Amino acid sequence: MKNLDKYVEENKDRFVNELIELLKIPSVSADPAYKKDVLNTAEAVKIALKEAGCDSVEICETPGYPIVFGEKIIDKALPTVLVYGHYDVQPADPIELWDSPPFEPVIKNTKVHPEGAIFARGACDDKGQMYMHVKALEYMTKTGNLPCNVKFMIEGEEEVGSESLGWFIERNKEKLANDVILISDTGMIAKDTPSITTGLRGLSYVEVELTGPNRDLHSGLYGGAVANPINVLTKMIASLHDENNHITIPGFYDKVDELSDEERSKMAETPFSLEKYKEALDIEDVYGEKGYTTNERNSIRPTLDVNGIWGGYIGEGAKTVIASKAFAKISMRLVPNQDWQEITELFKKHFENIAPKGTRVLVKPHHGGQAYVTPIDTVEYQAASNAYKDSFGKEPIPQRSGGSIPIVALFEKQLKSKTILMGFGLDSDAIHSPNEHFGIWNYLKGIKTIPLFYKHFTEMTKK
Ligand code: BES
Ligand code: MN
Ligand code: MN
Repeated sequence: MKNLDKYVEENKDRFVNELIELLKIPSVSADPAYKKDVLNTAEAVKIALKEAGCDSVEICETPGYPIVFGEKIIDKALPTVLVYGHYDVQPADPIELWDSPPFEPVIKNTKVHPEGAIFARGACDDKGQMYMHVKALEYMTKTGNLPCNVKFMIEGEEEVGSESLGWFIERNKEKLANDVILISDTGMIAKDTPSITTGLRGLSYVEVELTGPNRDLHSGLYGGAVANPINVLTKMIASLHDENNHITIPGFYDKVDELSDEERSKMAETPFSLEKYKEALDIEDVYGEKGYTTNERNSIRPTLDVNGIWGGYIGEGAKTVIASKAFAKISMRLVPNQDWQEITELFKKHFENIAPKGTRVLVKPHHGGQAYVTPIDTVEYQAASNAYKDSFGKEPIPQRSGGSIPIVALFEKQLKSKTILMGFGLDSDAIHSPNEHFGIWNYLKGIKTIPLFYKHFTEMTKK
């Protein structure tokens, strides 16, 4: 496309600085203490979209955090790309493990990012990746290279389950009408190995509370004679996997979409080094479900993980006590065909079943979402593949990811269009972890690749 690389190179310092400003606002959707900041971020996104060339931008109220909607319609007869992203971020804690404050972005070089990476919460997930689209739009409008119509829908509740987004889509189908949905909120294999995400796992997130005696007890006077909720809860949790690391919840695997041998061997061709994987995580060996490779375990297989567990005394020194209650947060990653609400029910029934007499268990479902998988023999995928070919000089590899963007399955159902997941993050970018960062090379490469998708998609679908 005309002057695309030149425009990005000439403006790269400003592109980086603008992103840094956005990253300074702590838009943590999970914590009400940041409510003002989340709202201010929506405002900042609105201004950025306007400046990038949207004709109209509005902040749409929802029962939760607002959705920023912007559009530029150049010709109703041309195709329309709908960009989705999120302006909210994960909580920064544990804050003491950050080398620099999470909301004071700094640029540092790393082994994978010798050109520099921006360190800040949200740098990669998803402010940096969302902002690539804003700057790609800027290039297209400022240089007369926008080939089609574009709409933006940027939400502020992705990290807490996107509850208002379903509500919003339901009420705004016309407004959101599009020919393809474009999202950068995933990753790629490596800087020299572009990939397009063709699958996401579903999710069921629950919290459990186990109660034993009605009050905390002296562990000498009562120990051994009553159920200790922490002992019992950890035992119950441990029993959720068998010796082969299969999940023991009855019916859990009933609907799992098993891959054919052919699909599995195709998957095994994806470049991957187990040695490097272990080295990066400083682990002696990997761990997981018997009969599956590491890449299969973290993408096409369902899992169950404890995300947090608490109860009893955790202060200084020792306190001899049997706590009345113990708690855990548990997530299950799901694969195509498993229904998240059904799985939540199966978990609940099973967990209540295995609680011994003398205890009471409460299972509180949080949020969830369906898994997603898309074929590659579509015009949408082909257009994306062509964009990568132009930009990287090689064909991208289709790859199923282990992460979840629950709203993607809903998009296809409600808006009847295909989604293209063009991620530019790397696994080493530490999303959701301390020291999250986004490579400047990746950021600029994204801005240079996105307009090419618009071009190919328009050429391939224009009537
Ligand atoms: N962007 C991530 C999901 C992601 C990251 C998918 C990398 C594929 C590769 C998203 O913001 C996220 O964190 N999703 C949550 C689910 C949500 C309901 C909290 C997740 O996957 O844990
Ligand atoms: Mn994200
Ligand atoms: Mn996330």
